Amino acid sequence: MNKTIEQNYKKKIKEFEKHNKLYHQKSSPLISDKEFDELKREILSLEKKYPSLKNKKSPSNIVGYKPSKNFQKFRHKVQMLSLANAFDKDDLLNFEKKIHNYLNDNTAIEYSVEPKIDGISASLTYLNGKLTYGVSRGDGSEGELITDNLKTIKDIPHKIEKKNLPNEIEIRGEVFIEKKDFEKISDKFANPRNAASGTLRQKNPEETKKIPLKFIAYTFGFIDDHNIENQSDFLNELKNWGFITSQHNKVIKSIDDLVTFHNQFEEKRFDLEYDVDGLVYKVNNLQLQTRLGFTSNAPRWAIAHKFSADHAYSEIINIDIQVGRTGALTPVAKVKPVNIGGVVVSNATLHNEDEIIRKDIRIGDTVKIERAGDVIPHVLEVDLKKRKKNSKKFNFPIKCPSCGSRTEKEFNKTTKKYDAVRRCTNEGFDCEKIAIEKIKHFISKDALNIDGLGKKVVEKFWDLNFIKYPQDIYNLNYKKISNLDGWGEQSVSNLKFSIDKSKDVSLERFIFALGIRHIGLENAKIIADFSKSISNFLDIIHQNKLSELIDIDGIGDTQIKSLEKFFKNKINLKVTEELNKILEIKNRNINYNGKFKNKSFMFTGKLNNISRAEAKSLVEKNSGNIVSSVTKKLDYLVIGDKPTTRKVDLAKSLGIKIVTQKEWFELLN
Ligand code: IVH
Repeated sequence: MNKTIEQNYKKKIKEFEKHNKLYHQKSSPLISDKEFDELKREILSLEKKYPSLKNKKSPSNIVGYKPSKNFQKFRHKVQMLSLANAFDKDDLLNFEKKIHNYLNDNTAIEYSVEPKIDGISASLTYLNGKLTYGVSRGDGSEGELITDNLKTIKDIPHKIEKKNLPNEIEIRGEVFIEKKDFEKISDKFANPRNAASGTLRQKNPEETKKIPLKFIAYTFGFIDDHNIENQSDFLNELKNWGFITSQHNKVIKSIDDLVTFHNQFEEKRFDLEYDVDGLVYKVNNLQLQTRLGFTSNAPRWAIAHKFSADHAYSEIINIDIQVGRTGALTPVAKVKPVNIGGVVVSNATLHNEDEIIRKDIRIGDTVKIERAGDVIPHVLEVDLKKRKKNSKKFNFPIKCPSCGSRTEKEFNKTTKKYDAVRRCTNEGFDCEKIAIEKIKHFISKDALNIDGLGKKVVEKFWDLNFIKYPQDIYNLNYKKISNLDGWGEQSVSNLKFSIDKSKDVSLERFIFALGIRHIGLENAKIIADFSKSISNFLDIIHQNKLSELIDIDGIGDTQIKSLEKFFKNKINLKVTEELNKILEIKNRNINYNGKFKNKSFMFTGKLNNISRAEAKSLVEKNSGNIVSSVTKKLDYLVIGDKPTTRKVDLAKSLGIKIVTQKEWFELLN
């Protein structure tokens, strides 16, 4: 086997270890569930291809996490394993086929179907009816003894006085937090499961008590002799013993019916009080379960049929109209919160007015929402079957919801079509929403890069009348800020430092920071190259010569019109001039003969010790170009950590030089 395959495998195992710990032990994942599952899948597929690779830290050997040192360890009498996953009908058919083969019997199987609650499992041992040990799953063999924490959960009986309760029985179930309770603490945890896990394993049970955790029981671990025949009967006994079981539990007799039920359930899960990430199917007959037994990490008699990790259904509660920096009115659907692949989604963009008309999206509709990768969640389609009889078409506002100005859809002379986006016609700072967005843009990374002043702070300072125009940032009363809640001496001094630092700014960043429609960073650079200094740039404006910029390669009619419209507004011009008095706007000095002359670069993956922005500026300072896609014209693809495979593969196939960050530095020296 090739050495790189081995190295690649080891790297993935290391990553898995890190994320597994964050996911289970610290309850604070850095990557999405989908990415975590993908990582596990990649490792398992490498192991399948090259069995000699297999490491003891492989996900095939590890279930969950090592118990925390905060608690006494407790060895489970019966291992707490996880479930194998199924994603489609084929996986289910395969699961059933294996059962038939194992039993050497093709008789139809009956399944107990239960929602797979997305919380964390816990085990409760009752000795003669008394709750004696409460334990977390831990790594499946050993968990943490968290009896006192579990006892704070109201749904867990401390004593069971029912004659038919076996003398010793270990009841297992899921500890979770309801969606409505999660909403109150959603700023502290990524999703309800992390919240449940973090809260349950607090050192101090008093802390656990503060969050209303719930418990739903679904299976047993160790059990004394009993005469219960089916899992569905056991679920009924659990109720009889005082536990809460899911009201959605069902018995289903064929794979086709399982698939139908799964489809229906996936569409209505947003209406449940708690997060469910799939359905669990268990062979209903307990004797058959015993015969089937376990593989090394999962039972042969059960499977988890997961819901999609990149889409879900939910109901639109309202449609908000957001006003962007350039006046664009963006409709956003406020939906009942739904967990898509580990992220709780309660907003989904509807893009623009035309999209609403085209899809006839209405308040009250049940819609399919997609959340894939880093893309903002968006509404894919309406489920018309679920539309309520009294639903009304959505009337898109004709006036700006922020300032009441006229809105318009621009006519594009080239395409001879009206723009899909409706815009507020107010270009200046009179429209509150536009003004706030302009200030947010002004401080953003590629603009003035004031990192101590985030978007939320801008909103707060706006409400407090501290900032109404960008120049107000440089006239803040730090004394007043230090009296605000949440502002300590250090944070005020950090803010002051980053504001002062931002005063030194290049001309192109300054032009970009003004937030003129159609003037992105690239166009700002071209204009800065042309005007060379801020005073020249202001002269061009004052002498009404903006139309002369048409001679510059890259600037077209659209950009000129936009510049003219922007500076026709006296407030915009005043803001520009005021800022010029405060800031140190550097002239544009271009080095046309640097080391990277006529060379183009693209970066992929995370760079070490340097930000993307700084790396790009280094290239440009040395006369190189940054491009945004891999084409034949690209000279170098610089790869950092975890580069995008697609880009690397494409570069390889086009014969483009691929260099590491280190090699790229060496090119410079
Ligand atoms: S049965 C040996 N039933 O899913 C299998 N598990 O990946 C024992 N879960 O660790 C689990 N709802 O945390 C079972 N109705 C249910 C469940 C359920 C949620 C969780 C549980 C388990 C994980 C399996």
